[in-house]
Amino acid sequence: MSQQEVIVLDFGGQYNQLIARRVRECNVYCEVKPYTTPLSDIKARSPIGIIFTGGPNSVYEETSPHVDPAIFELGIPILGICYGCQLIAHNLGGKVVPASSATAREYGKTETFFDTSCTLFKGLPAQGISWMSHGDYMEKVPEGFALTAHSDGCPNVAIADEVRKFYGVQFHPEVNHTENGTDMIRNFLYEICGAKGDWTMGDYCKTAIAQVREKVGDGKVLLALSGGVDSSVAAALLAEAVGKQLTCVFVDHGLMRKDEGDEVEAAFAKWDINFVRVDAEKRFLDKLAGVTEPERKRKIIGEEFIRVFEDESKKIGTVDFLAQGTIYPDVIESGLGNAATIKSHHNVGGLPDFVDFKEIIEPLRMLFKDEVRQLGRELGLPEYLVMRQPFPGPGLAIRCIGEVTKEKLDTLREADFIFRDEIAKAHLEGTMNQYFAVLTNMRSVGVQGDGRTYDYTLALRSVTTTDFMTADWTRIPYEVLDRVSVRIVNEVPHINRIVYDITSKPPATIEWE
Ligand code: XMP
Repeated sequence: MSQQEVIVLDFGGQYNQLIARRVRECNVYCEVKPYTTPLSDIKARSPIGIIFTGGPNSVYEETSPHVDPAIFELGIPILGICYGCQLIAHNLGGKVVPASSATAREYGKTETFFDTSCTLFKGLPAQGISWMSHGDYMEKVPEGFALTAHSDGCPNVAIADEVRKFYGVQFHPEVNHTENGTDMIRNFLYEICGAKGDWTMGDYCKTAIAQVREKVGDGKVLLALSGGVDSSVAAALLAEAVGKQLTCVFVDHGLMRKDEGDEVEAAFAKWDINFVRVDAEKRFLDKLAGVTEPERKRKIIGEEFIRVFEDESKKIGTVDFLAQGTIYPDVIESGLGNAATIKSHHNVGGLPDFVDFKEIIEPLRMLFKDEVRQLGRELGLPEYLVMRQPFPGPGLAIRCIGEVTKEKLDTLREADFIFRDEIAKAHLEGTMNQYFAVLTNMRSVGVQGDGRTYDYTLALRSVTTTDFMTADWTRIPYEVLDRVSVRIVNEVPHINRIVYDITSKPPATIEWE
């Protein structure tokens, strides 16, 4: 039997990829399709369920995205989220109007009460927080639908027609703020659509390898290997797909953590690919000399990467594809569609206009971080590499505030190593998703032995997060922070003060620059 599939119809909401991610987490294959996808195409795929996403529009406006009403005649279960819920109501005889403050315009975390006899909420608590973001209100619920959830401000937070298997929720079950949201999606998939859970990362891996093979043909691929999880997994995927056609250029830009360059080289020694390690430290440091502005640093490093690749590709001959380990959060944060640009991640936004390759290939573009790690395991990468914490392309340059010099980098490298070493000794890696040291550009007065010192302040940063789009600072036990602090000021010259960064994201970002 062919694999089961759910189609997520995209109406332009900001969490749409997250819905797909949740469905896949529930082991059901899922693809996001534009709302304009012809009904015949949807039918041809025989999905076991359809999910309408949220979106910024109002269903009662003519110019808003709509669906072919015949979609409700297919006999396929539908879950509508936010705009999607209103779309169901609008199409099946209900009425959606603009909400006033009196009629439930809701935003943010909202206490919600659920009717657990509704299949969508089966087995879940009758009360919980849900994440709302809607300015419209279902004044009239269509015939055949029951109200299955409410909040203090809104009587119809969820609607259900159990006979036709149409369900709508005003809130966003896909975001972490909604308690039991994934379980609601799981209920939709397993209790309503009859999912069997026949999709795994192993399947994705096979598909991705086949897709890369098809795209690349007998062309040559040059991969930008930075040593982080993303580019390493991308490298492994490409290695598996096209073997010797792949040249991995590992640019040792001198901005890596302690011993990292050697570790990466060792990890790829077993693959039958062309592996080139370029010692480009001097090149990068020369370009960065005197530069203090974060965005300039990122742009310079991004450009220099490309230049190094160009130089290498000239040595190799014609190269058809430049591969990169861009993952989905990078894409969003670099400004996809209307999302505001927060930082130009060098591997997305910072590309120079002229690139000497036919095409860019980004095999991980649709994957979230945890999916990338899983894919890495599928591909047989060692656990230490797969579980390596994310490391930004511009490396320590954006953790070395102000001008970047070899001396400052070496100082930072030693301090960062001690921090990681103590975290490992305390077995705390599992409680944090990214942790590192930042060399601030601030100096302060200290006293060591009998002498006065005037040295750098080092900041420690550790965050706990699932998606790296939002993050909380990690509550590291005081004793561990103390050990880290004592060791660093004793073992690393030029640091005489340690601070711990206790800001969440937002408003701070994870990196300091
Ligand atoms: P921020 O600092 O934006 O970081 O909260 C979110 C995540 O992205 C990583 N990061 C980068 N990754 N190239 C990358 O590949 C970059 O330029 C870059 N800047 C930040 C950061 O380490 C965190 O995991």
